[in-house]
Amino acid sequence: MKQFKRWFGGRSEGDEALAGIDMDNIPDHVAVIMDGNGRWAQKRGLPRVAGHHSGMKNVKKITMAANTLGIRVLTLYAFSTENWKRPKEEVDYLMKLPMEFFPKEIDELVANNVQIRMTGWREGLPDYTLKAVEDAIERTRHNDGLILNFALNYGSRKEMIAGIRSIAERVKRNELELEDIDESLFAKTLLTDPLPDPDLLIRTSGELRISNFMLWQLAYSELWFTDLYWPDFTEKEFYEAIIEYQRRARRYGGL
Ligand code: IPE
Ligand code: IPE
Ligand code: MG
Repeated sequence: MKQFKRWFGGRSEGDEALAGIDMDNIPDHVAVIMDGNGRWAQKRGLPRVAGHHSGMKNVKKITMAANTLGIRVLTLYAFSTENWKRPKEEVDYLMKLPMEFFPKEIDELVANNVQIRMTGWREGLPDYTLKAVEDAIERTRHNDGLILNFALNYGSRKEMIAGIRSIAERVKRNELELEDIDESLFAKTLLTDPLPDPDLLIRTSGELRISNFMLWQLAYSELWFTDLYWPDFTEKEFYEAIIEYQRRARRYGGL
């Protein structure tokens, strides 16, 4: 019915919220901790992996919403360095999702000028996972629209330790003086370089924590939480988060 209505130019669920957005104050970088897939499934008496499948389908919807607004970067936290602790069947399922997602969606992503990126460690990912992601990055390399950045096998503490080590190495080799170490030098060692820091962080599922996500980069990000599980999160809430972001005064410690 919804599709039928849309076909005839009807309104979609997020339209009202969309109309409330100030298009001159769109965040450059929105990051999302896509959480609650497992609980979404459990609530329905389904296996946890059914929640991951449903969550995957939601990625496209939110990507298109971000594209509609002209957001420059949308980062989606898909798998953390700590998620390897989960049962093997669940990890295996998650690692296969890129092979399903990208071939299905890539034509539409290309048509919308989306650039795929990945932030995380390539080492440790199965070859087939990496290939699916790298193929998508390659296919979208010449696009210059929305950057759809997947945080995959990503953990912020590991990222910062790697950065500290690389700086220490350069000091040891006398390529750097201690005085050269500043915020911008450190930020360049991070996996997110050269992306801007997130302006807005959204977390679904009701958990009020960061879970080792971009600890450095989130220093002055606006945080927005919802109790909705990721598969239930729609354009409407995405737009509402943007509206709330636009109401905030970002002071960065000043007045
Ligand atoms: C988020 O959903 C997806 C990943 C972490 C891979 P969860 O799998 O964490 O779902 P909950 O939080 O257990 O409900
Ligand atoms: C954070 O969710 C990681 C991703 C969404 C990929 P988790 O479900 O792993 O976080 P915790 O364990 O609840 O902190
Ligand atoms: Mg979770």
